[in-house]
Amino acid sequence: MKNWTTTKLKKCKGVEKIACITAYDAAFARLFDAAGIKVILVGDSVGNNVLGFENTLPVTMDMMVHHTAAVSRGVRDAHVIADMPFLSYQVNDDEAVRNAGRLIQQGGADSVKLEGGAERAALVKRLVDNGIPVCAHIGLTPQSVLAFGGYGMHGKGKEEADKLMADAKALAAAGAFAIVLECVPDALAAKITNEIDIPTIGIGAGPYCDGQVLVMHDILGINPPEGTPSFVKRYAEIGEAVVAAVSAYVGEVKDGTFPAERRK
Ligand code: KIV
Repeated sequence: MKNWTTTKLKKCKGVEKIACITAYDAAFARLFDAAGIKVILVGDSVGNNVLGFENTLPVTMDMMVHHTAAVSRGVRDAHVIADMPFLSYQVNDDEAVRNAGRLIQQGGADSVKLEGGAERAALVKRLVDNGIPVCAHIGLTPQSVLAFGGYGMHGKGKEEADKLMADAKALAAAGAFAIVLECVPDALAAKITNEIDIPTIGIGAGPYCDGQVLVMHDILGINPPEGTPSFVKRYAEIGEAVVAAVSAYVGEVKDGTFPAERRK
């Protein structure tokens, strides 16, 4: 059993903020766990950040199981949430239960995350009733990028804000242990956070959520700054460090400095 269970995470609400980061392999998961992160999300953002796809839509269950299992092997304390990819839970609820079960059984995840509002509440309840903890995800839900026509803010007008509030309440009532709020106005995120009794995890949703989640390639400076959302803080420039290190290696191999002669 991991240190950060859903029970412990729920108790953080109003007491201690929850930091969450994405990871897609064992090496980085081990480092993030050592850094004291409470929650690691194996996001379907593996599609655009690791696998070279334009968005998350081509990501399959097999890919998610593969990356989730790798992350789980690297983690000791952190809670591992695995994303349910596009079309793994939309077709019907039986398939959704089986697919969520694969992320737990084969991927070693501690919980799953799925996108959508009140229309997913019955599925969330069924998963939870079957022993699968669920993190919900509302606001900007990237699997609906084609329907939305882009990655803008959600919940700006009263109607949209009321819908997001109703969605959050329905998902909390269905048994979700946390809700990701992506790209919603700070004031609305604060209101939702105050009105539900489970933690809200914000991304582009301001400082009043119960926790924050960011994509590792964004905060570590692996993704180029031009593609990085404006709400992201870059805590390191690993991309530049990698280019500098590898070009030094290339130079030293070329000029014969590396490898040095070994002692006989
Ligand atoms: O896939 C992902 O990385 C996510 C976060 C952006 C919340 O869902």
